[in-house]
Amino acid sequence: MKRSTINNIMREARDFLADHKFHLPPFAFWSPRDWAGKGSDCREIVEQQLGWDITDFGSDNFEKTGLFLFTIRNGTLAGLKDPLGKTYAEKIMIVREDQLTPTHFHHQKMEDIINRGGGNLLIRMWNATEDDRLEGAPVTVSMDGVRVTIPAGETIRLRPGESVCLPQRNYHRFWGEAGQGAVLVGEVSRVNDDRTDNHFFEPTGRFPAIEEDEEPLHLLYGDYQRYCAHLSA
Ligand SMILES: [Fe+2]
Repeated sequence: MKRSTINNIMREARDFLADHKFHLPPFAFWSPRDWAGKGSDCREIVEQQLGWDITDFGSDNFEKTGLFLFTIRNGTLAGLKDPLGKTYAEKIMIVREDQLTPTHFHHQKMEDIINRGGGNLLIRMWNATEDDRLEGAPVTVSMDGVRVTIPAGETIRLRPGESVCLPQRNYHRFWGEAGQGAVLVGEVSRVNDDRTDNHFFEPTGRFPAIEEDEEPLHLLYGDYQRYCAHLSA
């Protein structure tokens, strides 16, 4: 993805979130220059992978296959094992009409996917077999506290306010319903490590290759290694 495209997606996301009265934390709006002046007191943002996360899943076509995410809170896998550690995570996402997040499951993350407003979110799901294929048996999930069983590969629709709890090894793909507008999607989950926890059904890149055609407006989570080495020292 071109950096200029990522910057534009950030601007569009900022407007969309403002329309829905959803506010991001202060560090969302730091510039690369601001980051350069930060100290070790900000290390948690880097270590817990908080912040902007925009991906085309390697498709080179963000509109068709891509996702906007912002990780608001998270812990670490080490913290999961600590009785006093942070065990939860929260993300906000924007899913455009017919914009696909490819079929994947999570090894350790259980997640609630919540339609926070806008259009409708469509989610297709299967259970995973032991060898990571699509299981043919029906899938049982909880939708807002109501247990629902659907045939494998069936699509559910989340209207604004509705949510579904996806357990580990539940294969799912999702997109915004055509003609209904983009969807503001919340995710409340166990701690999330996107470097190791996603299993895609087909070979898929989780983070985009970036062509640097202009300066970053704000840093992506994936930029921290390059820009924030001074915070992890
Ligand atoms: Fe997922």
